[in-house]
Amino acid sequence: MKALILSGGKGTRLYPLTYTSAKQLIPVANKPILFRVIESIRDAGICDIGIVVGDTANEVKEAVGRGGHWDVNIEYIHQPVPLGLAHCVKISQEFLGDDRFVMFLGDNVIQGGISPLIREFASSEWNSQIVLTRIAHPEQYGVAELDDSGRIVRLVEKPKNPPSDLALVGIYMFDKHIHEAVDGIKPSWRGELEITDAIQWLVDHDYAVHPYIHRGWWIDTGQPGDMLEANDLVLEELDYKVEGYVDRDSQVGRRVTVERGAEIINSVVRGPSIIGENTRIVNSYIGPFTSIYHDVVVENSEIEHSMVLEHSHITDVGTRIQDSLIGRDVVINRSPIRPRALKLTLGDHSKVGIL
Ligand code: DAU
Repeated sequence: MKALILSGGKGTRLYPLTYTSAKQLIPVANKPILFRVIESIRDAGICDIGIVVGDTANEVKEAVGRGGHWDVNIEYIHQPVPLGLAHCVKISQEFLGDDRFVMFLGDNVIQGGISPLIREFASSEWNSQIVLTRIAHPEQYGVAELDDSGRIVRLVEKPKNPPSDLALVGIYMFDKHIHEAVDGIKPSWRGELEITDAIQWLVDHDYAVHPYIHRGWWIDTGQPGDMLEANDLVLEELDYKVEGYVDRDSQVGRRVTVERGAEIINSVVRGPSIIGENTRIVNSYIGPFTSIYHDVVVENSEIEHSMVLEHSHITDVGTRIQDSLIGRDVVINRSPIRPRALKLTLGDHSKVGIL
């Protein structure tokens, strides 16, 4: 089997973390979502991966390279304009050939990975397998309607009145018949070749499309949701792992990961939390559900339930920082210059909560 990861789309910046223009590179629990996608494909035993890239091609290529880091082969397929998920399949025909493949949206992650799903599909006669999950507001997604025997009747993209609470997760498995389907559909009202329509084409032409209902968590960082909530879900799965240095005056709790080169000096770190490579935590408290990315300094400060991105410096902050998203190269410190006041340099769309 092969894998196709979709990491194209427009290079609009993501708020509130203006960290990157490629939303697939936003780190969740200190690891870009796209890396998590590649790992779950590799763990399922697939090593030929095509990545569809668009406006942010250079950023993605620089971060991922040729796949050597994961022991997989990565090819890039350039999509000049984001004309839809089914369009991505169309332009990848040469890479895919007649092989069965998994298509994975580069901003989606599911709990437990995809190994069981791939195993089942690889040994089945199904022409396609799709992943569904029950959610409260399915209208922002593709939605599936099943009949009483659990077979797919209808798939609709972002319906105003959803026919069920079953949303399509961005993980799909196909055999070569998807290429006929993609050639058989027309662009939707939003001008895109929808993968939902291509799957409906398979259903209408009596191909076997198997619905798998996923029961764990699912993250779609492409949706304007709560980054902290996504981060919490992934942090929950952390084990205790200390590869950095923890001095004798510090306490590091269960489910804390301290990455290579990180230093914890005279501090308390409660899990689940992750401290990134070469980050220094000095005379500080890091509370549960906190991710501090690499090359950060936290000194004489307290942070809980927050994300801090790389190269930021937080020093001598008298009040505990909580429920916060702090981007990269941010400096928060105590100013010795009078008057005593809040002195802020905030980017567009920033939000600050003051007691
Ligand atoms: O996340 C699940 C949902 O993903 C499904 O429920 C929907 O049925 C499916 O259409 C898709 O909806 P989105 O509106 O969330 O898709 P989005 O435009 O955000 O694109 C998803 C990923 O695919 C994203 O990483 C960018 C990439 N992409 C998207 C388009 C339209 C491409 O690489 N090329 C494209 O042309």
